[in-house]
Amino acid sequence: MNNFKENFDKYGFCLIKKNFFIDEEIKNIENIFDELIKGQNEKVEIDNNCMGGKSLAVKNFIDEKLEIKRFTNKIFNDEKLINTIKKNVGENFKISEITYRRSYPGDIGLGLHQDAIGENTIVINLSNNDFNGKTCFLKSSHNFDSIKKLFKSSSISDKLTKFSKFFLDFIDTSRGSLIMFNNKVWHGRFPNKSRNFSSSLLIGVYREGSNIKYEDENIFEKIKNKLDYKYEIDQRRNLEHSSITKSQDGSYFINYEKSNKENNTIQTYKNIKTKIYISFLKLIYSFKIR
Ligand SMILES: [Fe+2]
Repeated sequence: MNNFKENFDKYGFCLIKKNFFIDEEIKNIENIFDELIKGQNEKVEIDNNCMGGKSLAVKNFIDEKLEIKRFTNKIFNDEKLINTIKKNVGENFKISEITYRRSYPGDIGLGLHQDAIGENTIVINLSNNDFNGKTCFLKSSHNFDSIKKLFKSSSISDKLTKFSKFFLDFIDTSRGSLIMFNNKVWHGRFPNKSRNFSSSLLIGVYREGSNIKYEDENIFEKIKNKLDYKYEIDQRRNLEHSSITKSQDGSYFINYEKSNKENNTIQTYKNIKTKIYISFLKLIYSFKIR
């Protein structure tokens, strides 16, 4: 039975494949990132600030280490996995970016937030089977009002997120597993209270027809040229799609309107635990204790 798509639509996330990568492959990849983090490669971007304290993000590494490309391509060369991803986000999806994230012991995590419409993420869990430093989700919250609308804030504070564990979901946190989520679902990074770092690779995936906005045309070109996946090669053709328009400021848009079917889905799924949590947050925010 294939219920990936059902879970993805209903909850906003799903497990794509348990333990897809084996320990040896992961050890190899972690060694490469150890090297990159310590190294002096100017092309590789290491961001210590973008994800809160005691965590870092590594970007622009895909052309620097062939092994990482091979590792990630294993997903996109697997017919079964590709079909699952296509079922979730449509036939002509586009890979936008790949980021390595590491959360060190003492990392306070990242509060629940939402990202761009049309954005989805495939997460490759590279570390051990616990919640520390892992991505957490509020089930079905992509069907509710946005955080911005409800709380006039772009995110729920990391402190509140930390105390909300009972309401949050983690899907499969085991090493080598692949999960996928709709970035509209309220999500964040759980604090790392363990003695080990927790790490993952995050692959940004946009469905065909989603809004894609890059503030800087150069970034768009860089990403387009950078990603050389077998599957992505097909997607480049898609970039010439008639629905893509370039705005005056140089950013690109893909026009996308929600189908009635999708709107109905949004109305249909509600989740009681999520409802209770949102009510709880509203109460907390009404007292201005964040
Ligand atoms: Fe996010």
